[in-house]
Amino acid sequence: MADLDDIRDGDNFGLNSPADTSKFYLKGMNSMSWGVKNRMARIFNRTSGRTVMLAFDHGFLMGPTSGLERIDLNIAPLAEHADCLMGCRGTIRTMIPPENTQPVCLRADTGTTILTEMNHNVLLGEDEMISMNASALAAMIAIGDDATEAKTIANFSRLVDIGNRYDIPVMCVTAVGKDMARDARYFGLASRVGAENGASIVKTYYTEGFENVVAATPVPVVIAGGKKLPEIEALEMAHKAIECGAAGVDMGRNVFQSEAPIAMIKAVSGVVHDGLKPAEALELFETLKNEA
Ligand code: R5P
Repeated sequence: MADLDDIRDGDNFGLNSPADTSKFYLKGMNSMSWGVKNRMARIFNRTSGRTVMLAFDHGFLMGPTSGLERIDLNIAPLAEHADCLMGCRGTIRTMIPPENTQPVCLRADTGTTILTEMNHNVLLGEDEMISMNASALAAMIAIGDDATEAKTIANFSRLVDIGNRYDIPVMCVTAVGKDMARDARYFGLASRVGAENGASIVKTYYTEGFENVVAATPVPVVIAGGKKLPEIEALEMAHKAIECGAAGVDMGRNVFQSEAPIAMIKAVSGVVHDGLKPAEALELFETLKNEA
């Protein structure tokens, strides 16, 4: 019951402090809902405007690939050093401690493995996405692949419908078709298709001319790391992507297959958030590796 005899009139309306009408800090997000912005703000550092996502969703396609044999041993210790964890429901539920409070980007599509043709045409149920406390959802589109392009775009669009219903941002994972040229034209097309279909984040691959890919994609772009490279090359790639305007990385193998994964994710963070040059980041990596 309200206390009707103690209704105090407000007397502090901040008349000299106009409401903040400045724009939201992430590209393309200004017209999004409060829920989308709030989730994006969990993933993207508010000072740098960037993110270091740790990708460990590979097993649903590849099985226990190198570095992911035991996610409880390989990935869980890295979790606190990542800005966001990108994985599948089964591994997150069974091997990431629930005390972890890093935001989760949940891999929400499935369908086939590397043993057959890629064809991700099944989505998790909406209740699963909610129950996993997902801060973002991810699904793949296979642009340029005759057999699966239409199915994967339709699947992705359905996921965006679900994300929009619950204000959960959706990340578009641009796959590289077997016969596709890995160039800015192809990745630019795939990234734009993801954004046109409602992605709030696009994950693609770094390539020469990447500034055009970023410029033509109206939402934050993060790069996958791809196959394992020597540490300096992976750091150079991250640095070049950031210089071209990328909003961070969603990196897997170049972190968890490194000889010192914690040192590597910290070095990548140095590039993404602190503007370290590749040589400085490598020095940080070597120092942390030797301290471990
Ligand atoms: C690809 O479908 C997966 O989403 C991987 O998460 C992605 O390729 C990033 O991992 P990596 O840095 O190992 O390429």
